[in-house]
Order: sequence, then structure tokens, then C-alpha cells
Amino acid sequence: MAQRIDVKDLNIYYGDFLAVAGVEMSVEPRSVTAFIGPSGCGKSTFLRTLNRMHEVIPGAHVEGTVAMDGVDLYGAGIDPVAVRRQVGMVFQRPNPFPTMSIAENVLAGIKLNNKRISKSDADETVERALTSANLWNEVKDRLNRPGSGLSGGQQQRLCIARAIAVKPQVLLMDEPCSALDPISTLAIEDLVSELKADYTIVIVTHNMQQAARVSDRTAFFNLKATGQPGRLVEIDDTPTIFSSPREQATEDYISGRFG
Ligand SMILES: Nc1ncnc2c1ncn2[C@@H]1O[C@H](COP(=O)(O)OP(=O)(O)O)[C@@H](O)[C@H]1O
Ligand SMILES: [Mg+2]
Repeated sequence: MAQRIDVKDLNIYYGDFLAVAGVEMSVEPRSVTAFIGPSGCGKSTFLRTLNRMHEVIPGAHVEGTVAMDGVDLYGAGIDPVAVRRQVGMVFQRPNPFPTMSIAENVLAGIKLNNKRISKSDADETVERALTSANLWNEVKDRLNRPGSGLSGGQQQRLCIARAIAVKPQVLLMDEPCSALDPISTLAIEDLVSELKADYTIVIVTHNMQQAARVSDRTAFFNLKATGQPGRLVEIDDTPTIFSSPREQATEDYISGRFG
């Protein structure tokens, strides 16, 4: 299921503003890649180009290519809606649909895709997705209660269940733990490590310990000054980035000298 990602010469704009410039990177299937770097350097912006969510903002566009298993997501004839189905996303704040039950939340993506499914397939999907998200045992007796009644950490795992219910190939997570307590954070980190067996995962985090714990590769982004574009400074195996990065800017950032 998991796909590789190859980004080449990617420039990302909001209207005339070049927010992120010249990104080149490859992400292997069944791996976790962490994006780190100071606020405003374009981590979220770049992440959203990986499932064509960037362009929903008026004037926002890209130059360059983002290929999944060799197919350019920005190529002619590619349907962005199909891309977003293939590349799921989890956000900073858990955002279950408040009026929907836990089970309905898990199925929401499938229903949005206009897929009709039988009751038994729906039940099976709900159990599979919630089990994969390490939430099944906590909610199996209250599947028809509102998703908004869960704790923050449970809501975030519900959002992950919703993202994986549609069987994506890639999972993008933008600071998924920043609104969570430490115990819920560890639960999400454990989950990320398990999901890696089936998905290509990219996670933005401002927490360097988290990047060190969960990721195989780490990409450091930086920007020289406000108004300048963010750039990928370097990407390497996570232990290398944290012990002997090539660039001084990376060393300064990970040792807490700035950002
Ligand atoms: N919707 C938007 N419209 C215009 N500029 C934006 C928008 N979102 C982000 N930016 C700009 O893009 C740059 C990168 O922001 P962002 O991707 O949010 O950084 P990060 O996630 O690393 O903190 C910043 O200069 C930010 O102000
Ligand atoms: Mg961000």
C-alpha cells in the first residue's frame, strides 16, 4: 500500500510570495520522515503540497514535481480529490465532526467519497480502522456516542482512524501531538511506529525528542529572514541529523541555539 515520494525542484507560492523554494527530497515507503525547523519556515506549507491541499487557498500554487511511485501529482489529468484520498492528513487540533458518532466519524471519508457500503462492511471497516489506531478497546462499547465526547488524545486517534479508513498510501501529520498531554503524545508516537509497517508517514513536529523517537529520517527546514523563502537545509537519517549534521544551521537548531 505504501508509496515512495520524490519531490523535485519544488517552489511553493501564496500568490506572488515564494514561501518555500527549491525542495528536493525522496521519502521511502514504510518509513517515517520528520520535518523540523523554526516557525514560519514552511513545514506545513510543504506538507500540504504532498496531497494538493495547498492549492485550495486562492492564489496558492506550486512549480516542480511531487511524484508518488513515479506519478507526478501535479501532472495533467490528475484529480486532486483522488490525490487527497490516496494521501491522508491529520492536523494539529483533533477535528472529529462534532455532530457525528464515533463510528460515523471513522466512515466519514468513505461516505464523502460517495461510496455506498453494506452494514457489515461498515462494521468491519470501523473495527479495523479503530484497531489500527489503537482506539478500539477504549470505544467499542460506545461507537454510537459523539466523537466530541472523547478525550483529546482519543479524538486525535479517532482522526487517524478516519484517515486510514479510506486506505490511503501516505499519511501526513502536521504537529499531531501539539495539543495533547504527554501520555496521549506517547500513545500517538507508538501508533506512528506501528503504522509505519503499512504506510509512508511524514510528520511535522516542533518537538525534537519526538522527531528523534519516531522518525527514520529527519528533514531540517530553515529561513534566512522574514520574507525570504523557507528552504530544506538537509535531510538525513535521524541519528545522523541529531549527532553529526552536515550544516552548521542544523547543528545550531538542534542544539537549541536558535528557533
Ligand atoms: N494561507 C496563507 N496565506 C499566505 N501566506 C501563508 C499562508 N499560510 C502560511 N503562509 C506563509 O508561508 C510561510 C510558511 O508558513 P508555514 O508553512 O505555516 O510554516 P511552518 O509550518 O514551518 O510554521 C510563512 O511566511 C507564512 O506566513
Ligand atoms: Mg506549521
